[in-house]
Amino acid sequence: MKVTIVGAGNVGASCADSISYRGIASEVVLLDIREGFAEGKAMDIMQCATNTGFNTNVSGVTNDYSKTADSDVVVITSGIPRKPGMTREELIGINAGIVKTVAENVLAHSPNCIVVVVSNPMDTMTYLTLKSTGLPKNRIIGMGGALDSSRFRYYLSKALDKPSNDISAMVIGGHGDTTMIPLTRLAAYNGIPVSQFLSQEELDKVAAATMVGGATLTGLLGTSAWYAPGASVAYLVDSILNDQKKMIACSVFVEGEYGQNDICIGVPCIIGKNGVEQIVDIELNDAEKAAFAKSADAVRNMNADLKSVLV
Ligand code: NAI
Ligand code: 2OP
Repeated sequence: MKVTIVGAGNVGASCADSISYRGIASEVVLLDIREGFAEGKAMDIMQCATNTGFNTNVSGVTNDYSKTADSDVVVITSGIPRKPGMTREELIGINAGIVKTVAENVLAHSPNCIVVVVSNPMDTMTYLTLKSTGLPKNRIIGMGGALDSSRFRYYLSKALDKPSNDISAMVIGGHGDTTMIPLTRLAAYNGIPVSQFLSQEELDKVAAATMVGGATLTGLLGTSAWYAPGASVAYLVDSILNDQKKMIACSVFVEGEYGQNDICIGVPCIIGKNGVEQIVDIELNDAEKAAFAKSADAVRNMNADLKSVLV
């Protein structure tokens, strides 16, 4: 099973590291436009093999898409982060150009692959990939909810002082500080609602910390995070390649689910060998419905900035 990761930067390389360390795929190709960069990252990862005992073959290439041929999954992490003084529209313009070209290039060599979009603004880049490639909606998956949900579980585990693996919780909606929706009402510690252990005030603090989880790390690191994003992509790729049918919050094209149409937004999905195999359309309460509608409006507004790219 072969995975191509476009963009060998922080997230792409961390994703390759996580996939190989966990033996999720037999082959990983890292591709970047920076001369020699992907080759260097791949070599560094491969030099872990004897000490960690993995058998995945990780290779790196500079812009040579022929080496990505016949990939089962392609992960797009190429793009730039927002810089001070840059408007959202400018960021969208630059990343949209990159993501659109990259998607065309990978599909020319792997026409049957499933595409995982990571580049930000992720919901909009996922929508762009869907619209520009014309691929069926089950084959385009935006990664954001897996990361936001793991951050939610982290903050819940800290508040509860219990291991995060004992906690189940999900974040839906857009992948943005103000658009994501941590589903506090449905979060559980070993099947017991977390509201049995934490006050509403404590739960609100957990939700607020989750929503700015990415921004908190950007403030500390000076750039956006990579370990948890890379591990979250690997988790998603594992469910696809090994047909695990895990339920993962992913940004996917909705057609009536959660009352929305014609956007890609985070919703619970069953992820297997066919990509998005089902959208799990759960019943939200009124407050959650209102938050979801608001989030969808924000994502839709951001998609409007794609006009010049989607002609
Ligand atoms: P980075 O700057 O470390 O890496 C990006 C890489 O893309 C660079 O190595 C660059 O040379 C490469 N690149 C640029 N244009 C390219 C092209 N046309 N073809 C091939 N490679 C190209 O950035 P980082 O930290 O890895 O983040 C990557 C993207 O992922 C950003 O847009 C970031 O905002 C986003 N992100 C999304 C997350 C999510 O949950 N969806 C989480 C974390 C980051
Ligand atoms: C993150 O959530 C910025 O999307 C990036 O870390």
